[in-house]
Amino acid sequence: MYLFKSYFVTILQYVFTFILKLLTMRNYIMLVIILALVISCGSDSSLTDEQIEKYTSQGNKIAQASFKKLSNQLQAAIKAGGVENAVGFCNVAALPLTDSLSTKYNAIIKRTSLKLRNSKNGPDSLEKKMLDMYLIMSRMRNPIMIPKILEKNKDKIQFYAPIMIANETCLKCHGIIEQTMLKDDYDIIKRFYPNDKAIDYKLGQFRGMWSITLKQ
Ligand code: HEC
Repeated sequence: MYLFKSYFVTILQYVFTFILKLLTMRNYIMLVIILALVISCGSDSSLTDEQIEKYTSQGNKIAQASFKKLSNQLQAAIKAGGVENAVGFCNVAALPLTDSLSTKYNAIIKRTSLKLRNSKNGPDSLEKKMLDMYLIMSRMRNPIMIPKILEKNKDKIQFYAPIMIANETCLKCHGIIEQTMLKDDYDIIKRFYPNDKAIDYKLGQFRGMWSITLKQ
């Protein structure tokens, strides 16, 4: 009987230390979940390292050019007539602007998010998975927020890259009401986007994602 009891205690100790280990391994578990998600997102095994490198730099170039164009125009619009003017600008110009760049780069350029302002920017099922993955990743202690390339089919390559709340300007329209964003400004945003979800962000947080289809 005594023997049985001591076995039981040892087993309990094992279980206990295992649970403790699991807790400290939280980050590794996250990593496994992320890897599983990435794998379930599709396989890029048919792409060579050179191809992945080439498409990544192509995607980065387009994302950066699009960001530059959008943010230059946004800054100019804020300067000319404050947030009110800029929101009007985004409302009429953001999508046509990415469309015109799409033609220029022979690609489909899209911005999407889990918390949308414009429902036209809504994610498809694969984009949703990638967004979930980036969100989990962004909450890790040392997040690695890097672009991802997937081969959709023979002549379509998909590029994803995270969009972060990179500076204080973003908060003027995506921040916290009465803290980093003026209530008056948000009232204007609400007029254009009654179903807006894209607020309460803090500096450095994960905001959304570029999804760029590169046509071959
Ligand atoms: C002047 C206000 C304003 C500022 C400043 C601003 N945004 Fe936005 N943002 C908007 C509006 C309006 C939309 C909706 C555009 C549309 O209709 O496509 C939007 C849409 C987006 C989207 C597309 C997804 C969605 O929710 O529809 C992303 C991503 C985004 N903003 C990120 C940023 C980032 C990052 C910054 C800072 C670099 C920033 N925004 C600065 C007003 C702003």
